Amino acid sequence: MLFRFKKDIKALNTLITISEDINRLADIDSVLDKVLLEARRFTNADAGSIYLIEGNKLRFRYVQNDSLFKNDQLYNQYLYADNELPIDENSIAGYVALTGKSVKLDNAYKIRKQFPFSFNRSFDETAGYTTKSVLTVPLKTGKKEVLGVLQIINAKHGEKSVPFTEKDSLYVTYFGDNAAIAIEKAKLTRDMVLRMIKMSQLRDPHETAPHVNRVGAYSVEIYHRWALRNGISLDEIKRQKDILRIAAMLHDAGKVAISDTILKKPAKLTPEEFTAMKYHTIYGARLFHPFSTPWDSLTFEVALTHHERWDGKGYPGKIDNVFDESIKMNSGIKDNMIPIFGRIVALADVYDALITKRVYKDAWPEEDVLTYINQQSGKQFDPDLVYVFFIIYDVIKAIRARYVD
Ligand code: C2E
Ligand code: SIN
Ligand code: SIN
Ligand code: FE
Ligand code: FE
Repeated sequence: MLFRFKKDIKALNTLITISEDINRLADIDSVLDKVLLEARRFTNADAGSIYLIEGNKLRFRYVQNDSLFKNDQLYNQYLYADNELPIDENSIAGYVALTGKSVKLDNAYKIRKQFPFSFNRSFDETAGYTTKSVLTVPLKTGKKEVLGVLQIINAKHGEKSVPFTEKDSLYVTYFGDNAAIAIEKAKLTRDMVLRMIKMSQLRDPHETAPHVNRVGAYSVEIYHRWALRNGISLDEIKRQKDILRIAAMLHDAGKVAISDTILKKPAKLTPEEFTAMKYHTIYGARLFHPFSTPWDSLTFEVALTHHERWDGKGYPGKIDNVFDESIKMNSGIKDNMIPIFGRIVALADVYDALITKRVYKDAWPEEDVLTYINQQSGKQFDPDLVYVFFIIYDVIKAIRARYVD
């Protein structure tokens, strides 16, 4: 008997319906990345950023800068930079969000008196960059509601920085309106996923939205670095990150089918209870089967394999049919037999479980967590992934700061 209560079956059905809907939508960070890249490509701009309106603030969501980050694809730190601007006339982006009008400047340091704003030099000063021409357009949805601001910087002619043209301005404004629709859809995806997570949170109070956001973000960053080292193309990396983030966020969705007494037990589980708990991998996999999109199969895979261990001592092992009523845990699968995304989420999940407080345990000191991860390289975890994890540890820490409990 898998589901003890009618309520559980209903919750599962709702989860399944929602997950079918989100399958067709893309992840918001990938959409922002694409929007910015395409706008810059058309105008031959060196850099750019996107701000999205959140509440009554403009939040800095994304930045690309060829001069600063070209050789090393690590613009990631900036992805998680947590800057806010008020929506007012004091900044360029604030003014554009407030008025819904585009602004084209030939030189950010010589702004004409007709404008109320001044250019904020702090990014240039911190980064050692010189902003010259700036084109800033609103991102407006069909309803003409401003969703955010797209700002591109330093149009290039060869190595020279030149002003943006009227044509650039027209095109980017038009592009911004189309992009806004895609961004709105992607925001909906994120909201849907967060709602699925909230549902499991009703059952499992420690499985908070920030925890899930962190595991999703750590996973894509570990993957990005791992994939670069393994010669995977940037296009492929971007495509996979889109799916991986959502799959990683849903790794524990199967916990909705675990009884409260086990799930919320503020103490160590008995061996019987732990066995029951292990089935969350299989229940999770069931939510995403049958597959209708690549998204399903990866979420299935991650739910099923995120507790496998590199040395083969994990669970649930090879499962031929996740819907088998009398399913038994097998001996674990090992090393490269475990799908790469399962290996990645295993590391991201355990790092986050150890460094934060759970109902059944206190948070560990950071030093102990890092020592543990090092010791478990080649045992619990894929050694290549542990290596990558330490290379990008500053990014991991930035993510922790971005999504606090
Ligand atoms: P979770 O809380 O998301 O933990 C994920 C994984 O982090 C665990 O998988 C384990 O590999 C690692 N982890 C968490 N805490 C510790 C720790 O204190 N020491 C070590 N060495 N590793 C730790 P695992 O063990 O397969 O557990 C899966 C899930 O089962 C956990 O997910 C949690 O929801 C539940 N669980 C495990 N042990 C207990 C427990 O003693 N009490 C309760 N109430 N739940 C438990
Ligand atoms: C602004 O739009 O004034 C703030 C961002 C920037 O300085 O580029
Ligand atoms: C994979 O498992 O998908 C790639 C091979 C590897 O991890 O070495
Ligand atoms: Fe789990
Ligand atoms: Fe987990």
